Amino acid sequence: METTAKKRILTGDRPTGRLHLGHYVGSISNRVRLQDEYECFFIIADLHTLTTKPEKEHIAELTENVRQMVLDYLACGIDPAKSTIYLQSAVPEVTELNLFFNDLVTVPRLQRIPSIKDMAKNANLSELPMGLLAYPVLQAADILLPRSHLVPVGKDNESHVELTREIAKRFNYMYEEIFPVPDVMVSDFGSLVGTDGQAKMSKSLNNAIFLSDDEKSVIKRVNGMFTDPNRTSADVPGKVEGNPVFIYHDAFNPDKEEVEDLKSRYRAGTVGDVEVKQKLAKAINNFLDPIRERRAKYESINGLVDEVIYEGTLRMREEARQTLNAAKKAMGLSSVWNRISRKAEDVRKKREKDT
Ligand code: TRP
Repeated sequence: METTAKKRILTGDRPTGRLHLGHYVGSISNRVRLQDEYECFFIIADLHTLTTKPEKEHIAELTENVRQMVLDYLACGIDPAKSTIYLQSAVPEVTELNLFFNDLVTVPRLQRIPSIKDMAKNANLSELPMGLLAYPVLQAADILLPRSHLVPVGKDNESHVELTREIAKRFNYMYEEIFPVPDVMVSDFGSLVGTDGQAKMSKSLNNAIFLSDDEKSVIKRVNGMFTDPNRTSADVPGKVEGNPVFIYHDAFNPDKEEVEDLKSRYRAGTVGDVEVKQKLAKAINNFLDPIRERRAKYESINGLVDEVIYEGTLRMREEARQTLNAAKKAMGLSSVWNRISRKAEDVRKKREKDT
């Protein structure tokens, strides 16, 4: 049985709201592709949001953020009949595994992980909360809980998977071979530039086109996009490489002939930004149309999103229970309590019989 079983994937996102084109090209499209070849688990990592935003008002936003994110997943083609979508905070086993892993990692090792400092800075935290320092340890628990083999992530999460590998090896060496040492799969597209040309599309930078944006908003966003700053009018030869408008054309316009034509006329100074942008807006809207349609359909079915998350979470809980039992057994931890409870029950039964 074990040899014919599909390999497992675990990946996911913090629920910060609706997803944008950057999420699609960087990760969601890849996940949709991997669903048949692998048994996929997609985590909605709400506990990870607490590492920078533990305030009650942020927690209150999670319900709606989770819903919007899962709607985007489904609209893009993540199929709950094939894959498991689950809510991290509803699987308490992860925190117990996290606690065991904390003892296999040193503080200096975590302090060397660059993404942690970046997250602290972005969240305006002058001192590092313990939970944020341990962010990658919780992530390791996420990944190893369903005993995954492969973890598709962005470049910024690569070091977290590296730590996960170390933890898996250390656990297996100290106790017993329980965990596969998972491979990382770094998205080869990298991150999509923002509409303003900044390195990364992101909601907080206000340079994103969301998967759920309507036609008019897309046109507006594209019209405001940054192009070649040195090109002051349509007859000035322009630069195509690194130009956000053409990066998007390459990513979303399936009409390669049109894209090549626009590029060569742009280089020659015989096309205006207006035409390039009109064609881009059209291409993005065509790309988004089927996603919007599916989103609207799923949104209209009462309770569908809740049911998907509920079923996925129950499924994950069963996996989690099995792994955690195996881990505690390997550590010799379960036998401590097992011996005590067996003895105590024996004694109790005996006393009941005697009286
Ligand atoms: N760290 C991921 C992010 O940047 C979210 C996440 C939490 C995750 N647990 C994971 C990703 C496990 C992959 C695997 O949002």
